[in-house]
Parts: sequence; C-alpha cells; structure tokens
Amino acid sequence: MKICIIGTGYVGLVTGTCFAEIGHDVTCVDNDPAKVKILQSGGMPIYEPGLAEMVRKNVDARRLRFTASTSEGVAHGDVIFIAVPTPPHADGSVDLSFIEKVAREIAGAMTAYKVVVDKSTVPVRTGDKVSETIKRYCKAKVEFDVVSNPEFLREGFAIEDFLKPDRVVIGVRSDRAVSAMREIYAPIHAPIIVTDINSAELIKHAANSFLALKISYINAVAVLCEASGANVVEVANGMGMDARIGRRFLDAGLGYGGSCFPKDLSAFVKISEQLGYDFRLLKEVQRINAGQMDRFVKKIIETLWVAKEKTIGVLGLAFKQNTDDVRQSPAIELCQRLIAEGAILRVHDPQAMSKAKAVLKDVTYVDEMNDVAIGCDALVIATEWPEFRKLDLNRVKRELTHPILFDGRNLFDPAEMEKLGFVYKSIGR
Ligand code: UDX
Repeated sequence: MKICIIGTGYVGLVTGTCFAEIGHDVTCVDNDPAKVKILQSGGMPIYEPGLAEMVRKNVDARRLRFTASTSEGVAHGDVIFIAVPTPPHADGSVDLSFIEKVAREIAGAMTAYKVVVDKSTVPVRTGDKVSETIKRYCKAKVEFDVVSNPEFLREGFAIEDFLKPDRVVIGVRSDRAVSAMREIYAPIHAPIIVTDINSAELIKHAANSFLALKISYINAVAVLCEASGANVVEVANGMGMDARIGRRFLDAGLGYGGSCFPKDLSAFVKISEQLGYDFRLLKEVQRINAGQMDRFVKKIIETLWVAKEKTIGVLGLAFKQNTDDVRQSPAIELCQRLIAEGAILRVHDPQAMSKAKAVLKDVTYVDEMNDVAIGCDALVIATEWPEFRKLDLNRVKRELTHPILFDGRNLFDPAEMEKLGFVYKSIGR
C-alpha cells in the first residue's frame, strides 16, 4: 500500500518505519525542516531501541522516505495517517489545533479518494470534526473516509509493540476504508477490532486511564503494606496470578509519568466533564500518583533529618527504562524537589542525560553509574533501568559517606541489602 504519515514524533516515526518494514511504500512528512534533514541524512531525532537500524534498512530499500512537503506526502499516499502532537491546554483539555491544521492541509492537497486515519490520541468525536474540516476545505470535492486507529505502543518497546500488538483497533464508517485498513495490517498477526469511530477514540483514553489506575491502585496498596509490614511485591504477585487481574502494571514506585499517562488522564477527566460526567475515580488516581512523590521525598528527608547541604546521588532521569524521554519524568521531579530542599545532586542516566541537561541545571552529571555514589550521603534510584540491578553494590557502599539507599523502583531485595550493610528504603516493603 502507498502510505503517508504526517508527523515524525515517536508514534509517527515508528508507525512509518514499521509499515515500511512489513512491505508498504511510505512517505513521512514533518513540518520541521531541520528534523527532516536529520532523518534524510540517516540521523535519529529520538532514542528508541532498534529504530535507527530499521529506518536505515527501509530507506536503503526505497520503501521509506522523508519530506517537509505535505502535498508531496498526500500525493503519494492512498492512506494518510495523522500522527501529530495533541498537547494539553493549561486546564487539561486537548489542544487539537495541529490536527485541525493537518486536516486543512490534507484537504487542500487531495485530488483523489483518500483514507485519512487519525493515529494521534484525541478526544471522542474528533473524527467527526476532521471529517467536517476536510469537507469544508477540499476544493477538489473528492471522496474520502476518516478512520480512527489509535496507537498503543510504549516508548522503549515501540517496535515490538507495533509489530506484535495485543490488538489493532479500527474505528471506521465505510467498507471501502475497512478493506484498506485490513490490507495495511494484513502482515501483522493480531486480532483486528472494527468499531465505530467514537468507540475507537474512546478505547484509547479508557485503556490508558485504566493502566494508570492499576499503577495508582498498587501504589495505594503499597502504603498499606508499609503501614502493616507486608510486602507489596508479594501482594502484586499474588494478585497478578489471577488471570482476571494480570501482573503487568502492578509495580509500585514513584508513580507514573511520561508524555502519555498524565496528559491522557487529564484529558479524559476533561472530556468526561464536557460529556456531563464527573469522573472522580480518575481524579483520585491522579491524587494518589502525586502523593507517591510526596511520600518518597518525605521518606528521604526524614531519614537524613535535613537534606540541605547533603550530597545525594540519583540514578535515573528518564520517565522509565529504555528511553531518553524526560517529559513528565518522576525522576526529574524528584531531583527538583531535592534541589529545592537544598541538596547537592550527582546524577546519571544511561540514555537521558543530554535531554535532562535542558531541564535540570546545577547538578553534576556523572558518566558511569557506579561513580555516582562517590562522596554522597545517600543514593536514590528513580528509574527502573535494568542495568541498575547490576550496580557494584560493594563499591557503591564504599563510595557512599553513609550506606543509605532509597529505591523508588524496588530493584533490590531488602533482606540482601540489609545483609550487605545498607540502610535500604524502598516502596511498600
Ligand atoms: C503508555 C502506554 O503503555 C501505551 O500503551 C500508550 O500508547 C502510551 O502511554 P509509555 O508512556 O511509553 O506508554 O510508558 P509505560 O511503559 O506505559 O509507562 C508509563 C509510566 O508508568 C512510567 O513512568 C512507568 O515507570 C510507570 N509504571 C509502569 C509504573 O510505575 N508501574 C508499572 O507497573 C508500570
């Protein structure tokens, strides 16, 4: 199939590249000429495991190309995917101006039937608006279909999630568009769920909010575990073995962050409000998430008595493992809170240091994870990078002025840490 992807952010770039990988002929459009130049010259604007190689392979095979021209992309694609940002307004509602602008641009460039697919996360009923906009601005008066095809990929696992999804959701009105979408996804072995457009749009917000709810639920249970002497990991394992619940997204920690969950929850609360429903359950999910950070900061300060002038090492800056993304990162928030308390920070992240430097100044960036502890009064783990499990704990203990370790991601076994001589404080254990 001839496909055009508009927007080369995480979702757009992964989608375009994976479609090329499964054999389609893809043109990716971005309105940022600098980004297009980077991509055209074989560079990568983001870190995502395996993506750079896959882009190169498909560019070489002439199945994938990049351009700054929307009209060129629209002329190429029989199916056009919109994957532009949908950032939040100050009140949490969704700014749809990028989507609207792209809809107008597509309308202006269309000269034959197109399937216009929305991949960005949007409020329910956005498909209707896109449809109206294209109709209004399309001078050629050609036929088109609008489809909602939400994306569920996780950063750090984007390629795997895209090529082996649990399901593909297609919200659509016409049979013609269903056939086009089925053909595109034919090489991907996953159940395809065909719904109306509104349901598809709602599935995305409902799913992400439910996952955030799972995280807040286990974080609330972690509070009870700490108060009662139970172990939240054991509780999560015991709950998770019930197939109706499932173990995933039951890891207690510093709370969820990133560019999706916080934004999607606020949006869903706002969308519900606009539809006349006060989704108080989700407001509580947000409150628990914020409380998790407060509790952890309090734990650090209570142990150190005062944080002012203490040197604290922080391992992890990305919002989660396997990404360089620091947007809405709990780890960055933690650093800022500790700096506000007067602490002096030494920090490290396997991938996110250069992005962190733009938002986190006045800290010492350390290249090697085992060196972070040098001269620190305490060490904090803020992101669940798997390499942190391989820390040289004996050396870390020697480097620390006091062997205190705060583990915001439950990477180590409390009994073993105690045996090694650490004062070890984690979450819900
Ligand atoms: C999420 C959704 O998973 C994905 O389907 C959607 O398309 C985009 O949003 P992502 O933001 O990449 O993906 O990250 P995810 O792996 O879901 O983690 C989100 C946050 O939750 C991270 O901060 C992570 O540390 C935290 N988390 C996750 C927990 O605290 N505990 C868990 O058990 C799982």
